Amino acid sequence: MAVRGDRCWITASDGRRYLDASGQAAVVSIGHGVAEIGRAMAEQSGKIAFAHTTQFHSEPAEKLAARVLAIAPRSFQDGGRVYFTSGGSEATETAIKLARQYFLEIKQPARYRILSRKQSYHGSTLGAMSVSGNVGRRAPYAPMIPEWGHVAPCFCYHCPFGKTFPECNLACADDLDAFLCANDASSAAAFIFEPVVGATLGAASAVDGYTARIAEICRKHGILVIADEVMTGMGRTGKTFASAHWGLEPDIILTGKGIASGYAPLGAVLVAPRIVEAFEEGTAAFMHGFTYQAHPVATAAGNAVFDYLEAHKLFERVAPGGEMLRKALAKLESHPHIGQIRGLGLLQGVEFVKDKVLREPFPKEAGIAEKIRLAALEKNVLLYPGQGTVDGIRGDHVLLAPPFIIRAEECELIAGALQYALDRVFSA
Ligand SMILES: Cc1ncc(COP(=O)(O)O)c(C=O)c1O
Repeated sequence: MAVRGDRCWITASDGRRYLDASGQAAVVSIGHGVAEIGRAMAEQSGKIAFAHTTQFHSEPAEKLAARVLAIAPRSFQDGGRVYFTSGGSEATETAIKLARQYFLEIKQPARYRILSRKQSYHGSTLGAMSVSGNVGRRAPYAPMIPEWGHVAPCFCYHCPFGKTFPECNLACADDLDAFLCANDASSAAAFIFEPVVGATLGAASAVDGYTARIAEICRKHGILVIADEVMTGMGRTGKTFASAHWGLEPDIILTGKGIASGYAPLGAVLVAPRIVEAFEEGTAAFMHGFTYQAHPVATAAGNAVFDYLEAHKLFERVAPGGEMLRKALAKLESHPHIGQIRGLGLLQGVEFVKDKVLREPFPKEAGIAEKIRLAALEKNVLLYPGQGTVDGIRGDHVLLAPPFIIRAEECELIAGALQYALDRVFSA
């Protein structure tokens, strides 16, 4: 039972303290137990806790929208808008419906399919699962999920084409073009992808040139680019949005997790001006809504987190923090069962392999990621495990995504716990 949080640490009801090396699920950016966030939420709640968006705007939501847009890529400036949700899956649902209605507004009613990538994760609701590409998570619900098309991920360590970057000439990006050309491009509405794939691939980043090629293909086929930055947005990878690493200017960005650092359930859909204008010149009403969207107390938490990030210059700490973590992890790299340590900023993944040369995964039944998690727990370090890294079924990784305030000695504790876990799991 978690009872207290303080910086990068969580205290359980038995008094044991755990180092939160994963920010829970890459959520907590400013650290646990920051009292002023709760105070800001109480203050807003004392003024007005809830006003329905069919009747009112609220000051915290308006303010947070402007602040999030101001740190977004150029494509969101001068007329972008934000749609606040209560989390990432709702943000994905919103983007799917927004893309569809956009094409109705511009009188292209044949367009509705949202293409995505294999081994992606966009959330757990049915709409979000239809674009997610994780076969294991989709399997039980397969009869209920439409198939709009999934193309190859950009995943060099297990390249789906068996190629090597840059000689591959971005075959993974061209897979989208090939798919569209072969599968009725005129019914496609958008392409959604994670610039750095977190939960399902263990921090696999796009390579240079990938996002530009994707944007070019989407433009050629007249479809929208949706960047799912639920995990990577709000500073997690060392830029305010990961899209900025490659100068990508999406039409829609989803964010969540770090936007309120876990102090309130909050997600956001950033919408580029050309989409806003299409709605304004069309029906002027988005046929969608959640009772708790743009919640005043949740967005007050978002503003307080933003204040904290700015006051303590925490966005600037992510890149050096990531380097510090990588330095601490470097000594593990030679271990025969560590396949790769990868990631950007404070979103790092450690993949475990049976055979390092062949990059061959352990069988699913071995449950390696979970065993590593449990062993690290003996050292009071919390990791975020994932399975299915290679093909949705086989493959094991753990995700590291500590709060941006992580210190060098805490990075050493994480590396020490991983070393202990490797010894415990593989020498047993
Ligand atoms: C990239 C991405 N999209 C969407 C989601 C879904 O967000 P939520 O769990 O807040 O619904 C997640 C959650 O891990 C995610 O990592």
